[in-house]
Amino acid sequence: MSNTGLEEGAIGFLSVYPRSRTSWFQQLLSLIYFEEHRKGIGNLETVDRVPFFEYNFRKMDFVERPSPRLFATHLPYYLVPRGLKNKKGKIIYIYRNPKDVTCSYFHFSKNVTLQVTSSFEEFMEQFLEGKAKGEESQFRYRLGTLHCHKSLFNIQFLMYEEMKKDLKGSLSKVCKFLGKELSEEEMDSIVRQATFQNMKYDPRANYKNIIKTRYGLEAKGHFLRKGTIGDWKNHMTVEQNERFDKIFQRKMKDFPLKFIWDMN
Ligand code: A3P
Repeated sequence: MSNTGLEEGAIGFLSVYPRSRTSWFQQLLSLIYFEEHRKGIGNLETVDRVPFFEYNFRKMDFVERPSPRLFATHLPYYLVPRGLKNKKGKIIYIYRNPKDVTCSYFHFSKNVTLQVTSSFEEFMEQFLEGKAKGEESQFRYRLGTLHCHKSLFNIQFLMYEEMKKDLKGSLSKVCKFLGKELSEEEMDSIVRQATFQNMKYDPRANYKNIIKTRYGLEAKGHFLRKGTIGDWKNHMTVEQNERFDKIFQRKMKDFPLKFIWDMN
């Protein structure tokens, strides 16, 4: 393995369900791999350093990108590129309490992309039934299935809540997985630049330019909204919470996974 952390020509893949913190990880990988990003030299945005595989905003030539080729994706298991199943490249899969994902997605769709006009209650029902844009596939087709087939991949699973609680510890885990050695000073600089507050005001990482280009001045909300754990408690009634749990347990019953979400 080269000291870039990934073998020459290999693809580094970051796989996440929308609103689980893709943006956070795009910033982390940019800070890990690019010294100039870490030092604040140049103003390339994180979407240019870790572009989305399925939304090629900048019309890049992905094949010609130099190694390490870093990508973010929301693709579900059945669309994962075949080479990755032969352990060509590495996948980092981030997941988050689906109740917080629902809230975050609701605000994003209502205030940023303006695709949703319904109430939270209606949105949640659509989400649970797999009809909301983005559907329920977080449950089965992404996390569950990927976990079942994890021996096919070079994959590391990370939980949003765990990263929020101990970013430096999570960063060490990620660096170990990527085979990337960084000094203590570099690690501290990364942690500092990847806090919610700092990212919110970092034009390379806060998606303001993308939002402006794609949704114009209509957007009322921010891409980086609250960045907290447990915001679902401000949105769901007791009944809604129980209903969510029941459906989640039913959909995930075939998968031997344990979730510890509310760590704050
Ligand atoms: P909220 O809407 O709950 O604030 P994605 O990038 O996958 O679309 O995910 C966006 C969610 O990740 C938003 O959640 C955003 O605030 C959160 N996020 C992004 N960077 C973060 C950071 N540095 N710390 C905490 N949360 C972060």
